[in-house]
Amino acid sequence: MAIEHKMEVLKSIEPDVHAFISDKMNLPEECWQPTDFLPNAADQDFANQVNVLQENIAGVPDTVMVSLVGNMITEEALPSYQTFFNLLKGVNEERNVASSNAWVRWSRLWTAEENRHGDLLNKYLYLSGRVDMREVEMSIQRLIHNGIDLQTYADPYNGLIYTSFQERATKISHMNTGKIAFKSGDKLLAKICNTIAGEEALHEKAYKFFMSKVFDTDPNGGLAAFVQMMKKKIVMPASLMDAGTEKNNYSYYAAITQKIGVYTSHDYANIIDHLVKFWGIDKLKGLSDEGNKAQDFLSTLSERYFKLAERLQETTEVQLIWLNKSRLVI
Ligand SMILES: [Fe+2]
Ligand SMILES: [Fe+2]
Repeated sequence: MAIEHKMEVLKSIEPDVHAFISDKMNLPEECWQPTDFLPNAADQDFANQVNVLQENIAGVPDTVMVSLVGNMITEEALPSYQTFFNLLKGVNEERNVASSNAWVRWSRLWTAEENRHGDLLNKYLYLSGRVDMREVEMSIQRLIHNGIDLQTYADPYNGLIYTSFQERATKISHMNTGKIAFKSGDKLLAKICNTIAGEEALHEKAYKFFMSKVFDTDPNGGLAAFVQMMKKKIVMPASLMDAGTEKNNYSYYAAITQKIGVYTSHDYANIIDHLVKFWGIDKLKGLSDEGNKAQDFLSTLSERYFKLAERLQETTEVQLIWLNKSRLVI
């Protein structure tokens, strides 16, 4: 499908994007802010509040701390996400970040919410005393320095498939971290993770809705993009954090999330299954030959990933990267 056609489809969806924004998105004045969850440095008993925070997080296992740090680093690479989205063809043709175009507005509202996720987790982890913050800051800088390659090639359909998948993955990952934090005795951390997961759920809802509009208007084009993104596999946004160094932090982080069940290959299969069902892929009508083939391919895809997930070997060894070695709890 010619890119010009996709750009027209994107234009035709603009009213739906505006409507989603007015119905579902809060103004900054109505949103929670990181300080709502954090000790107040202006308070007389600030040091005491920090002590309580440190006591509460002491029961959270080291592996979970590593996973949490990785999640935070991913959030902090936000400049790349806003850039990525605005570079998709048909999103910001006027090259104006302050544009009132629905897609550009959406990109700002989305990333303004994401910005608070990184801020909150970063400050909480700093106050926990359990993290080697300089190492973490280097990873963040390196990741933004290297950028992201989400394999979408500026195609807006690819971009919407990617973000639908990724927002759900991020939601799962924060939600599972919240559950472990709760069990480990840090109720505040659990609340933080759940609050962030709630916003990821909203972003997921938005992207799935936008993409469903694409399927309504251009089912063959939508299917081709879905297949293309699935064949390449979804790359995690933080995957370039070590490029240009000798480090392997990204692989260690990914192995830990798998091991502790924060984000696993089973989740990957589940997300495919969910998206295929959500978009009613098997019910799409008026398809070309290619479209029919895509429909067949997608209808059995999650099964293949579920089988792969079952066969996957357990990672036993983990590396406790990014942590303050003198404060390890193991
Ligand atoms: Fe986020
Ligand atoms: Fe998000």
